[in-house]
Amino acid sequence: MDTVLAPNVNWVGYVDWPVRDFHGYQTKRGSSYNAYLVQGSEKTALIDTVKAPYADYLLRNVAALCPPEKVDYLVCNHAEPDHSGSFPAMVKACPNAQVVCNAKCRDALSLHYDTAGWNFLIVKEGDTLSLGDKTLQFFDTVMVHWPESMVTYLVEEEILFSMDAFGQHYATYCRFDDEADLNEVMQEAKTYYANIVLPYARPVETAVKKLGTLKLRIVAPSHGVIWRSHFDRILAAYGDWRVSKPSRKVIVLYSTMWQSTRHMAEAIVAGANSVPGVQVKLFDLKAVGDTEIITEVMDCAGIAVGSATLNQGIMPRMAACLTYLRGLRPAGKKGFAFGSYGWACKGAPEANEYLKSMACDIITDPIMCRFAPDEATRQACFEAGRKLAEAAAAIEA
Ligand code: FEO
Repeated sequence: MDTVLAPNVNWVGYVDWPVRDFHGYQTKRGSSYNAYLVQGSEKTALIDTVKAPYADYLLRNVAALCPPEKVDYLVCNHAEPDHSGSFPAMVKACPNAQVVCNAKCRDALSLHYDTAGWNFLIVKEGDTLSLGDKTLQFFDTVMVHWPESMVTYLVEEEILFSMDAFGQHYATYCRFDDEADLNEVMQEAKTYYANIVLPYARPVETAVKKLGTLKLRIVAPSHGVIWRSHFDRILAAYGDWRVSKPSRKVIVLYSTMWQSTRHMAEAIVAGANSVPGVQVKLFDLKAVGDTEIITEVMDCAGIAVGSATLNQGIMPRMAACLTYLRGLRPAGKKGFAFGSYGWACKGAPEANEYLKSMACDIITDPIMCRFAPDEATRQACFEAGRKLAEAAAAIEA
């Protein structure tokens, strides 16, 4: 495995092949926690660490290149435990190292770990740190995606250690974008953006503008492959994802009890399919997880959300999905709610409230039917689906 970014700049992280859950994000292709060792002519710095259980792997990778007692700096770009979790072990293993981070990160680390004996070197926006023939420079990237988030730039090699930005939960034997299947990489980058970065679109824009003034030969994120050949692809995609740019796509989600809401969903799909040039997708929430749903929602134009009524409320699976979507705040969608009920009509109205709280442009009142849909209800569903697809078709390609 090629782990060399540049002379004396090496990937030393851990590839987590089996991980399938990342605080609720379903990581179907695993992940990696990327750490990097930068060896200058005078000083050596480790940039970020790995999840706590894998500290031994990190230590082994570092020791293969440099005795740990010769490491001078442990740079912490981000206090989230997938990257900071091995700091306690590394501080112990590297007794001569200073922990380099900004003041907010120091405070966050102190709330995660016993940092009483740690030797901190606090850096600010634009500060530099000489390693001899190499120079590190630090830039705050506030709320991309935590308050203390920072990136590190290796000036002479034009390498940006971009932390979570431009990352992917993607386990692979390849370390570089030009060695991996780029379609898979881009799909995982999109899923990562939708599930992690989406609510922080504005801070991302600010960070991209600021970092855009740097010369970037390599962009090395904290997860997934390193961008050395196709950074233009991910940068352009970030521009679209940042605004949840709608495409000609309609998605229909449903959670059904006795198939009535499913039949309504299928009538909506039939209506949407009557409009040429629109991609239409149907999801039964029993079969699909929220990670996939938000990735589909991020770039759709329209969303129809159907729930039966259960125990005087929305179906729990639909409530969970809509709560997840609402938290990630996809922007600029049109939509409507639908669903069947027996005596208390609650599912569709509650789904409608979720859509409103997501600032969705509601194109019709909830479509509801008592028990099974009759022909008039199916026709109403068809028409609403057609209307949603017509709005999608009007979007410029
Ligand atoms: Fe990959 Fe925000 O940690």
